[in-house]
Parts: sequence; structure tokens; C-alpha cells
Amino acid sequence: MANKSLAKNHADTCVLVTGGAGFIGSHTCVELLNAGYAVVIVDDLSNSSEVAVNRVRQIAGLVPDDPRLAFYKANILDREALDRIFSEHDVDAIIHFAGFKAVGESVQKPLEYYWNNVAGTLVLCEVARDHDVKNLVFSSSATVYGEPEFIPITEDCPKHDATNPYGWTKSMLEQVLSDLYVGDNEWNVVLLRYFNPIGAHESGLIGEDPKGIPNNLLPYVAQVAVGKLACVGVFGDDYDTPDGTGVRDYIHVVDLARGHVAALDWMAGKVGTGEPRGLGSVAGEPAADGTRRGVGIFNLGTGTGSSVLDVVHAFERACGKTLPYEIKPRRAGDVAINYAACDKAREELGWVAEYDLDRMCADSWRWQSMNPDGYASA
Ligand code: UD1
Repeated sequence: MANKSLAKNHADTCVLVTGGAGFIGSHTCVELLNAGYAVVIVDDLSNSSEVAVNRVRQIAGLVPDDPRLAFYKANILDREALDRIFSEHDVDAIIHFAGFKAVGESVQKPLEYYWNNVAGTLVLCEVARDHDVKNLVFSSSATVYGEPEFIPITEDCPKHDATNPYGWTKSMLEQVLSDLYVGDNEWNVVLLRYFNPIGAHESGLIGEDPKGIPNNLLPYVAQVAVGKLACVGVFGDDYDTPDGTGVRDYIHVVDLARGHVAALDWMAGKVGTGEPRGLGSVAGEPAADGTRRGVGIFNLGTGTGSSVLDVVHAFERACGKTLPYEIKPRRAGDVAINYAACDKAREELGWVAEYDLDRMCADSWRWQSMNPDGYASA
């Protein structure tokens, strides 16, 4: 029934990062290493590259076999592999990113999405529990709010039906992880609901590397800027928004990564009031060592909405050229406006996003121009 204690120094704390070679995962590993943690990455490289892991080492100033960063190529459905990893490392907490994330593909391949994302998380949690690791941060999404009932979106905005299997996996896993705490009060879970992560590390060494033609706006715009794609398609200009195009809360991936580091300190009881404001969170009785128990829910966004055309124009400033765009019909499943209320994360986690849209685009452009074919350029 025990749970590993987080009431110790970062240097003595080992964080297992599933999906640590991916876009958000790799940036989070950099911030964890900067904050002094030891990191173990588990990634099956199905949508990422080991080059990213080497770049994380490089940015953090680690030598190739530095014990502060271990990497395992393994799938989270592989119980034996996970069991071995938990036996070899004294893991204290998990940050769980591993999962498929392409909305359109999830509609075509629901079985693959439910197996990988849902069943994979169940296996991960079982193995973790067997090793007394019940501290977990989950990579959730603002997609759980569906068509939001109000803007800006607070954490107690009702969840709505997802419009695709990817969204359902996020929503279901929030439920699964909340139920873990109900069944066993030793669990200490944080659900982080991301808005739209973009940008890249300022070194230009790690960034988003989508396979094939990007589905999301920013990588698409970046590939138009670098000459790989001809023209940005703007999905609808007749929304009820200032310029008619969709409004989103874009957040720099480095800010987002730092939100995870803040969440770990919060779980350890090192920050926050001890009385997390409701808004969906379940505040359990803290452990004797002061670490938290329960389920914390936080939006990670900037609180600022930007339209599709704002993004195109910010990217034009970043890359110094005009980017061709063309108005297309609305995309099915898109909402007009989506941005976060970030008060809870600021008050409880002591975290705020620092970087603005121009900085996000400048960093994204640096990554894209230094690595026109992503990690395959290496
Ligand atoms: C999408 C997913 C969301 C997921 C997130 C992950 C949908 C409906 N939602 O969010 O579940 O968590 O990605 O990053 O797919 N746009 C264009 N042209 C493009 C691409 C996008 O105009 O080529 C517009 C969209 O209509 C939207 C905005 O840009 O207004 C952002 O789109 P995108 O980057 O795909 O993110 P979301 O749809 O917000």
C-alpha cells in the first residue's frame, strides 16, 4: 500500500518519463534535468527518434553515459520490459506522455488508439503500483472540454463528449486515474490539460517532428515557411471571432514543460496552499511527510487567444517572409474559440507561461530551419 516519497531533494528523485523522446516529452526531460532530477525515458520511438534523446543530453550538458539520464526503447504495453525498468531504477514519480495523438488517424484506427493509450496506461499503472510508485502526472488535453460551456475555460468547466477516439482516450484516462485514488488513497495524481503547445527549445536542437503532412497548424505553417509545403489552408473565416478564423490558446512548449516540473513540486507539498481550490481537484489527506494525495487538475495555457491569421502573421515576422495562405471550408469538429483560465495553476503551482506568440514562432522557425527534415536531418 505504500507510495514512494517525494519529500526529498530533486537530486535524489528519479522521474520515469514515458514518451520522453516526443515533442512535449523531450522538452520536459530538459527542464527536469535542469531542475536537478534524474530521468528515465521509456519510448517505443513509434513517433519519435533517439536523436531527440541525444539532443536532450546535449542541451542538459550530460556526457553520453551520464547516469542522470537513462533511455529504454520499449512500449508501455510491454509489461515485462516495464517491470525490468522499474526493477533497475528506483523510480519515485512518473510523467506519462506516451500515446498516439493524431485526431484524424484515431477515427480510422480506434482499436490501435484504445489499446495503445488506454490499455498501455493500465499496464503502466499496474506495474508502477507493484513497485510502490503512485505519483503520476498525466498528459491530458483541453480536448476533454469539447465544445466549452464558457470562455475562458476553468478546470470545473464541464467535460463534454469527445468528437474522436483520441479525445475519448484522454477523457477516459482522466477517469481511470481519478478512480485509482478513490480505490487507494495512496495515489497522488495530477492531470494537466494542455491547450495548444507549439514552439521549440531555443537551442533549435529539439522541436516538433510530425510524420507526413502535419495536421496541426504550427508545424504546417513552419513547413510552408521552409518551402516543403506550398500554402497554408485556413480552415474557415466565418467564425464568430474578431477576424473570423479560429482562436486558440497557443503555449510555448518550454513553458508547458516547466508546468510539469512545477506539478512535481506541488505533489511533493513544496508549493501551493495545501488546500487546492476545488475546480475539479480531489484533495486527499496529505501523507505524514507532507506530500500530497488525491487528484489535482490544472489547465496549462497562457490565457490569451490567438487567431489562425495571428499565427500566420507572427510566423511571417519570425521567418522574414510573406507566407501564402488560402481560406478553406471549416474543419469538422473544430470549435470557434478555446482559451484557458490559468489562475489555478498560477495560484497553486506558482507557474505562469512566460513566452508570447512571437517568441513561440521565432523558436519554432529556428528549429525548422536548422532541421528542415526534423530529426531525419541529423
Ligand atoms: C487539435 C485537436 C486536439 C488536440 C490538439 C493537439 C482537433 C479538432 N483538435 O487541436 O484534440 O489535443 O490538436 O495538438 O483536431 N488550422 C488551420 N489550418 C491547418 C491546421 C489548423 O486553419 O492546416 C486551424 C484550426 O481550424 C484551428 C487552429 O488552426 O482553428 C488550430 O488547429 P490545430 O493546430 O489542429 O489544433 P486544435 O484543433 O486546436
